[in-house]
Amino acid sequence: MSVLVASDAPNQAAGGVGLSGSATADRSPRGRSPLLWASLLQILHGGPDSQGTSQGNQSLSGPRVLDCGGGSGSLAVPLAAHGAVVTVVDVSIDALATLMRRAAEAGVSDRVTAVQGEAESLAELVPADTFDLVLAHDVLEDVQNPVQVMRQIAGALRPDGVLSVVVANPVAGVLARVLAGDVAGALSAYHRPAQQAYDAESLADLCVAAGLRVQSVEGLGVFTDLVPGIELDRPGAIAALSELESAVAGQPPYRDIASRLHVLAHRPGAG
Ligand SMILES: C[S@@+](CC[C@H](N)C(=O)[O-])C[C@H]1O[C@@H](n2cnc3c(N)ncnc32)[C@H](O)[C@@H]1O
Repeated sequence: MSVLVASDAPNQAAGGVGLSGSATADRSPRGRSPLLWASLLQILHGGPDSQGTSQGNQSLSGPRVLDCGGGSGSLAVPLAAHGAVVTVVDVSIDALATLMRRAAEAGVSDRVTAVQGEAESLAELVPADTFDLVLAHDVLEDVQNPVQVMRQIAGALRPDGVLSVVVANPVAGVLARVLAGDVAGALSAYHRPAQQAYDAESLADLCVAAGLRVQSVEGLGVFTDLVPGIELDRPGAIAALSELESAVAGQPPYRDIASRLHVLAHRPGAG
């Protein structure tokens, strides 16, 4: 295992980045579900301004976030810009190099630590009982042993810390092929889902098996991929779509056809 630690880039974020205030309002990550981003910010806003330790940045204040399989930092960097102290674990050295370049460009190198390694060995890579929020977004499909990974994620959370897990929804893959006229492809996708495929129930079960308590199960992108792009140019269409997505995100059967499934779960507290 090799470990990369954030460089000695200038401390441009120190003292200036909080979790609230209009100055941070326009730093949402591009191409990300607004619903997902809003829910992560709500967790950070509601969480403690922890002084806990994290590799490479023990002296910084702010919520401790672990992004497991965080890749090139499309969420880690915006979260650091919102005042979090973020550790990203990923197998890809290239993705981590991009992460650190992005962090430097955003002026948050001191708030981001990159750790190369496998999620399956998480307990050896990051401290236990530490993180206020752990992300496992679009990575569970790639790991060899999701049950083991989820247990280690649970162990990295502090008591009452929150896990945010996102997976692709295989149902949406079948639906998208049908809507594109590729019925044979849809049939094939239906019969041969990815090796690690989840629905809302199995994803929630995975969290429970790791000792976590499920708070919510939502669909991200129930309708977004179904709307013809040109229709979104109409005045008010994006706002209406956003409101519709919000309204149905937690409601079966809408939730169950979303592009991705999002579960929030927390580690039970000591008391
Ligand atoms: C689809 S990308 C998702 C990146 C990021 N979580 C996001 O939502 O943008 C999957 C990431 O998981 C990483 N990955 C795959 N298998 C992994 C494993 N066993 N342990 C750690 N990272 C892994 C890949 O290198 C890649 O960066």
